[in-house]
Amino acid sequence: MLKLEHVSKTFNAGTVNEKKVLDDINLELNEGDFVTIIGGNGAGKSTLLNLISGLHPLDCGTIILDQENISLQPEYQRAKKIGRLFQDPMLGTAGDMQIIENLALAKRRGQHRGLAWGVDKKEKEEYYQLVKTLGLGLEDRLTSKVGLLSGGQRQALTLLMATLQKPKLLLLDEHTAALDPATSSKVLTLTKDIIAKQNLTALMVTHNMKDAIEVGNRLIMMYNGHIIYDVKGQEKQQLTVEDLLHKFEEASGEEFTNDRMLLG
Ligand SMILES: Nc1ncnc2c1ncn2[C@@H]1O[C@H](COP(=O)(O)OP(=O)(O)OP(=O)(O)O)[C@@H](O)[C@H]1O
Ligand SMILES: [Mg+2]
Repeated sequence: MLKLEHVSKTFNAGTVNEKKVLDDINLELNEGDFVTIIGGNGAGKSTLLNLISGLHPLDCGTIILDQENISLQPEYQRAKKIGRLFQDPMLGTAGDMQIIENLALAKRRGQHRGLAWGVDKKEKEEYYQLVKTLGLGLEDRLTSKVGLLSGGQRQALTLLMATLQKPKLLLLDEHTAALDPATSSKVLTLTKDIIAKQNLTALMVTHNMKDAIEVGNRLIMMYNGHIIYDVKGQEKQQLTVEDLLHKFEEASGEEFTNDRMLLG
């Protein structure tokens, strides 16, 4: 479903601030793969997701999504195929629009229908049922402005929006990190449910090593612009946090440093 070949990225090339952030990344995901990504601060995790979604151009290499070479496609074109959630719950939804308007926009993503997007009764009912599955009581507040929602409610809604039209790929960059523990766990459960139900292909960066082990079918560890560990299936399920720390030290020759991860 996704294939990265020889993908590299250097920021501020040719200046004193030059930094090679991704170095010859090769990665292949099958349809339905749910991959968790961990790594130290500045390892290149967010940059990897940013390159896939087209926020930054590639220096070299190729990105193939569902047999289509998207390496040179602009971000807005990739956004029709790639759903995305960030750490910041403010991103991904329009705060000054109603819940139902946000959903209607997500539903019409990629369509050229101008402003003619009245929501009929049937569609309203569809959103009511969909939002109800979140278990947050938001189905009775469909006309509330999204700006009034809590971070967790907003992130849950963003998740619905990103998957309303089945994306070929779902990118999650520490999307539960800014939420309190109970809400974070709720949003993660929701994430797992939606991914399983739609058999989505997904990459999820997390700073929680336990989650990284328990969630998904494959785990990738990054260090200094490289993938230093890639494990799946049974072997992944049997990992412990200690194993991960050990693997990291073995592959990098350094101690694991990720402030959020260690504090978590
Ligand atoms: N737009 C940019 N311009 C210059 N440098 C950048 C840019 N984006 C990221 N970097 C640098 O690239 C490196 C990797 O950053 P990235 O955000 O990908 O790390 P990360 O693995 O997501 O780390 P964290 O766990 O802290 O989120 C860092 O040194 C960062 O400062
Ligand atoms: Mg990051």
